Amino acid sequence: MVIDMNVLYTGATSGIAKEVISYLLRDPFVVIYLGVHTKQQLQVMRTYYHGVKNVQILKLDITNVEDYRSLDNIQIDVVVHNAAIGYGGSLFDMPIEKVRENYETNIFGTLQLTQYLFPKFRKQKHGRIIFMSSLAGIIPISFIGSYASSKASLIMIARILKNETRKLDFPLDVILIEPGLYHTGFNQLLFETKYENMKDSIFWSKRGQITRQEKWLLRLLEKNNKKTIARQIYHAIYDLYPKSIYRAPFLQCLGAKIYQILFW
Ligand SMILES: NC(=O)c1ccc[n+]([C@@H]2O[C@H](COP(=O)([O-])OP(=O)(O)OC[C@H]3O[C@@H](n4cnc5c(N)ncnc54)[C@H](OP(=O)(O)O)[C@@H]3O)[C@@H](O)[C@H]2O)c1
Repeated sequence: MVIDMNVLYTGATSGIAKEVISYLLRDPFVVIYLGVHTKQQLQVMRTYYHGVKNVQILKLDITNVEDYRSLDNIQIDVVVHNAAIGYGGSLFDMPIEKVRENYETNIFGTLQLTQYLFPKFRKQKHGRIIFMSSLAGIIPISFIGSYASSKASLIMIARILKNETRKLDFPLDVILIEPGLYHTGFNQLLFETKYENMKDSIFWSKRGQITRQEKWLLRLLEKNNKKTIARQIYHAIYDLYPKSIYRAPFLQCLGAKIYQILFW
């Protein structure tokens, strides 16, 4: 089936996004707008995708409304809200400005961009909004509360928006992606840099034990191969009748389900 489609992908320089983009590039009928965080990334990505006709690179810091203007004259059929940051520490005593910064990107940046795109979807009478949440938004993992609670918030935002779309007079799909642990460097940064936010923490003396447990968790669960989650995101973009939630990898999702049944 041939579908002409414009996809906007935020935070698209690395990690899971790179894998999904390699799938999207196989389709000559899709135009991919890759939103990047910084000016430096803009240069690097323009060089990287030089000559690839169906890719356009945009500087799109999702917390900066000025950057949204570059979207004004283009049609967007699907947005993948992939951009995120992760700060760790204990929610009891980590600097509140770090939590605020985390929410500013993951919640407010994502929601604000959604609101900016909404009139576009309304005018063209269709659209698809894909939120990257996380299994960390479902299972409470200690010392990543700032990041995890931002992802939990995205889950509720997506569910409420989906309910509200039932009252719209045009079809607008709202979809959640809930990945488990994949090795992109994001988790290492999240876990390892949290001690900068824990210098005055009551848990500072326990950092050796905490690090050992987290290393064990990542070694056990983190997937090197990102294909399983990339395939789910690809389906979320393309499926004619999309599911509300796409998750991977299977065993981690099963574990999360069992956890929800037993402990919630
Ligand atoms: N890896 C996992 O195990 C995992 C699990 C569950 C969910 N996820 C979610 O999957 C998504 C992709 O993560 P990933 O693992 O592939 O890591 P990643 O490559 O680091 O992806 C995050 C991207 O967001 C960008 N970003 C941060 N702040 C931004 C802003 N204000 N505006 C625009 N872009 C911004 C980052 O750019 P900079 O490098 O410049 O900061 C980076 O390119 C994230 O939403 C993450 O929460 C990942």
